[in-house]
Amino acid sequence: MNQKDKIKIFATRKLPDALCKELQDCHSGLELICTETDTPLGKDELLKRVEAEEPYGIVITLAEKCKSDVVSRLPESVKAISTIAVGTDNIDSKACKERGIGVYNTPDLLTEATADLTWALILAASRRVIEGHKMCVNNRFAGWSPTLLMGKELNGATLGIVGLGRIGKAVARRASGFGMKVIYNNRKPMEISEEAYFTDLNLNPPEYVTVDDLCRLSDVISLHCPLNKESLKLFDEARLLSCKKDAVLVNMARGTVIDENALVKTLKSGHFMGVGLDVYENEPEIHKGLMEIDRAVLLPHIGSATTATRWKMMSSAVNAIVEHFRDMD
Ligand code: DGY
Repeated sequence: MNQKDKIKIFATRKLPDALCKELQDCHSGLELICTETDTPLGKDELLKRVEAEEPYGIVITLAEKCKSDVVSRLPESVKAISTIAVGTDNIDSKACKERGIGVYNTPDLLTEATADLTWALILAASRRVIEGHKMCVNNRFAGWSPTLLMGKELNGATLGIVGLGRIGKAVARRASGFGMKVIYNNRKPMEISEEAYFTDLNLNPPEYVTVDDLCRLSDVISLHCPLNKESLKLFDEARLLSCKKDAVLVNMARGTVIDENALVKTLKSGHFMGVGLDVYENEPEIHKGLMEIDRAVLLPHIGSATTATRWKMMSSAVNAIVEHFRDMD
């Protein structure tokens, strides 16, 4: 094989051996080097490994930061960065562009898995699933009672979606099965052509409202917006308090869309019937206050974690770099 057909990719995480073999069999000339561990690489460690390997591309995760301070120090060999995620808020895309580095993510692939887990959180928080489970395993179930662990009725309730992108739409689609009305806020209202996503299935398209109205009107609020200047701490104390007192709030977007201190404070004051969180402000750290609240259902950022979806995400992240390499040829 010609030297120029060889491509080296460095992955900041240990990818499954079977996947690496599948990818290497599929792309002749591919050398895929994975770290030995499955813990996030800090800035210095990442740079040290990349300097030593001098790869063409780097596969990262949302836990590795590629901001301008890192991008500016990458070796010349690096021409593409690919993240095993849809969110790219951990990458400075502008700095990459300036250095001629392509940036790739894995949209589409994780839509359905993430929408499913959103509903797991909506249901768990609305119907007090974790409280019920704890009652059973701690031997505190004293028999059926007319008032035991009463939760929120979803049928007829209003679901407010912040961020009606792919995942937000897939969450909205599922809401019809629960008999819910859906309203949403997005950077801009859907085009008529986008409404076909719903009308083709004989579903009413969700109604566009302001964030203020969404908070005022929703019984369940589900966050799916990308993290950017507009969405950072969008749910601060005032906004949290503007939600219905017995609302359920679910966050599948990024932790910093909510001010976590304010959330703990409002929960402690009795606001919200429940919350369901898959993401946190300082991951993997979780605010101690959240752990003390029974109405908070907490998951460790596993929105897209089905075997099938993660396999597709990991291979797509590698394939994107190989395609970038071939296109540049
Ligand atoms: C993403 O893709 O951004 C998710 O948060 C990872 O599952």
